[in-house]
Amino acid sequence: MNKNQNIYVWDTQEAAEKWVQKKNERDRLLGTVTMHMIEQAKLRLDDHVLDIGAGTGDQTLLAAKSVGAQGKVTAIDISQSMISVVNQVMKSENVSNVETMVIDVAKLDVPEETFDAMIARMSLMFVDELEETLTKLYQILKGGRTLSALVWSKAEANPWIAPIMQVLRPEAVLDPLGRPGLFSLSEPDHVQRQFQLAGWEEIQIQKLSITQEYSSAESYVLNHIQTSSGPTAVAWAELNDQEQQNALKKLIEIYQQYETSAKLSLPGEVLLIVASKHG
Ligand SMILES: C[S@@+](CC[C@H](N)C(=O)[O-])C[C@H]1O[C@@H](n2cnc3c(N)ncnc32)[C@H](O)[C@@H]1O
Repeated sequence: MNKNQNIYVWDTQEAAEKWVQKKNERDRLLGTVTMHMIEQAKLRLDDHVLDIGAGTGDQTLLAAKSVGAQGKVTAIDISQSMISVVNQVMKSENVSNVETMVIDVAKLDVPEETFDAMIARMSLMFVDELEETLTKLYQILKGGRTLSALVWSKAEANPWIAPIMQVLRPEAVLDPLGRPGLFSLSEPDHVQRQFQLAGWEEIQIQKLSITQEYSSAESYVLNHIQTSSGPTAVAWAELNDQEQQNALKKLIEIYQQYETSAKLSLPGEVLLIVASKHG
């Protein structure tokens, strides 16, 4: 995936609308691990925080509240559609300490030591030129402060999504470390090396479990396909009608393995990455 494809994946009105619709589901799935991410960013009153790949602003809002009215969050995203939603959300929530920028994080051009903290929920794995970008992020963070990020752990630990990508776009899973994608930062050793190469210190990577529950395999698959944005939606749209029907059948069979009589329970795993810059 190159930079332009990244925009193609996320920067559509539809992607942003679907991301908004899935807020409650996201809160249920990621609410607890997001609180850990925010805690580990060690935000203080009056801090200036960078939120990388803000999406529709779920974690932006939490950070904005944590730093108080005199603090500030700069929420950046490569997608104009996502950032438009962040602006609307902040307006409707009466939050005035968030500024937004439509930009690829790799191109962010601000003076050294601009930010007091950085957060990135489920976005770093989509970044091209990761080593250069992590090096730049290190430079623009103040000494003694921290970046806290969540990424997806390995495909096998995430059956809520991995089979879907395996069926729709096998190469997204088979080449996890080679190029940006859902699982490109899923190996702790690889993540550790990337941050080390970029100069980061006190790098800690922790696996955290999540679980989702649905009523049945069929409803999960249909709902997931209909409401997904990003890589899943793009992979789905590339199939013809017959391929889509075959994929649905195959996926329902796969997910029936996780069904018990009353529900479908799907485990998942994320990595919480915490890295600092010495003071
Ligand atoms: C999976 S979404 C996560 C959104 C949000 N952080 C959340 O957790 O709800 C990934 C986001 O990263 C953004 N993104 C991907 N590559 C990016 C890049 N190079 N620079 C800035 N944002 C990027 C996408 O546009 C998308 O909004």
